[in-house]
Amino acid sequence: MKPIYGTFLIILFGLVTAVLIGFRPGLSESLPVDHEQTGLRDRIIIKFSHVVAENTPKGLAAEHFARLVKQKTNDRVEIQVFPNGMLYSENTEAEALKRGDIQMIAPSFSNMSNIDPAWLVMDLPFAFRDQAAVDEALNGTVGEALFQTVEEQNMHGVAFWKNGFKQMTSNRNPLVVPEDFRGQTFRILPSKVLASQFSALGAKTVNIPFNEVYRSLQNGIVDGQENTISNIYTKRLYLVQKYMTISNHGYLGYAVIVNKPFWERMPDDLRSAVQAAMVETTAWINRETIAMNERQLRQIRESGAIEIRELTDEERKRWAEAVQPIYKRYRDVVGGGLVDQVIKMQHQ
Ligand code: LMR
Repeated sequence: MKPIYGTFLIILFGLVTAVLIGFRPGLSESLPVDHEQTGLRDRIIIKFSHVVAENTPKGLAAEHFARLVKQKTNDRVEIQVFPNGMLYSENTEAEALKRGDIQMIAPSFSNMSNIDPAWLVMDLPFAFRDQAAVDEALNGTVGEALFQTVEEQNMHGVAFWKNGFKQMTSNRNPLVVPEDFRGQTFRILPSKVLASQFSALGAKTVNIPFNEVYRSLQNGIVDGQENTISNIYTKRLYLVQKYMTISNHGYLGYAVIVNKPFWERMPDDLRSAVQAAMVETTAWINRETIAMNERQLRQIRESGAIEIRELTDEERKRWAEAVQPIYKRYRDVVGGGLVDQVIKMQHQ
C-alpha cells in the first residue's frame, strides 16, 4: 500500500469513528443540559375528552387544568384536551374511559345516569333553589354517594365542575304556563327524569347528542331544548330558536372522572400534583362560570335574535307543581335516601 493511501484510510477511519460515537465539533460545550426535562417517552399523557366548545365553562376549565398540570409537574404530565366531541361523543366516552383509551372525561350529570341511576337525582326539576344549594349537595353526602357509584366500574371521581341552571327554548311559542309545552318535541340528554319532566308537561322528547342539537333545531326535528346559557350561546342555539324562558328549572353540572387503574398507577408525587391542579381549576371554573353565564345572557339579549322572558314566582310554582309527581315516581329508581336528602334541603 502506498503511504498516501495509508494516511487517507487512517483519516477516514477517524472520521467514521467520530460520527459513530456522536462527536460533533464545537457543539457539545454550547448545548444546555436540563436535568429536570423529561423525554417524550417518560412523560405521562392524560387524554381528556369532552363534547363542548373551547369557550364554555368546561372547555376553559380543561385548558386551564392542562396549563396548571404542566407547571406543577414540571412538564412530566401532559393533559391532551379533545373538545367538541372530536374523539368520543357523550354516548361513547365513558366506555372509552373504562377501556383506558382515554384517561379523563367530564360528562354532565344526566349522562352519568347511564352509568348509575343515582345520578338522576341531579336532574330532578326544581330540586335546587340556587347554586349554594347545589354546592351543598355536591360537597356533602349526595356528592359522596354519587362518586361511590363509579368506583366499582374502573372509574374514580376527582371533582364536580359547575355550569349552571338550565333555561327552556322553543321555536313554536313562548313557554310561560305548563300548557304551553303541549304537543311540542324537545331535545333531551339521555336521562329518564328529563324525559318524564317533559311528558309531565305534555311534551315529547328525543335524545340527541350535544353536537347535533343545532342542526336538529334548525331542521325542525325538535321544536325546543333546555340548556345553560353558556351552551345556548356558544353553540348558537339562540339563533335557531324564537323563544327563551329564563326558568332555572334544572341544573347542569359535570363529574370529572378518571380511569381508576391509571390513576392508581401514577407515581404518588405526580398524582398529588395533578390533584392540586384539579383543586385549583375547580375553584377557578366555579367562580368563572357564573360570570360567564351572566355575560353571555347579556350578549344573547343584545343580539335581539330571540324573545326572552323570565318566569314569575307564580309561573314557576305552576311548573313545579306540574312536575311534582316525578319525585315519587323516581324515588326508588334513584335511591330513596338521595331523593329524601334533596327534598329535606329544599325545606331548610
Ligand atoms: C348537553 O348535552 O346539552 C350537555 O351535556 C353538554 C355539556 O356537556 O355541557
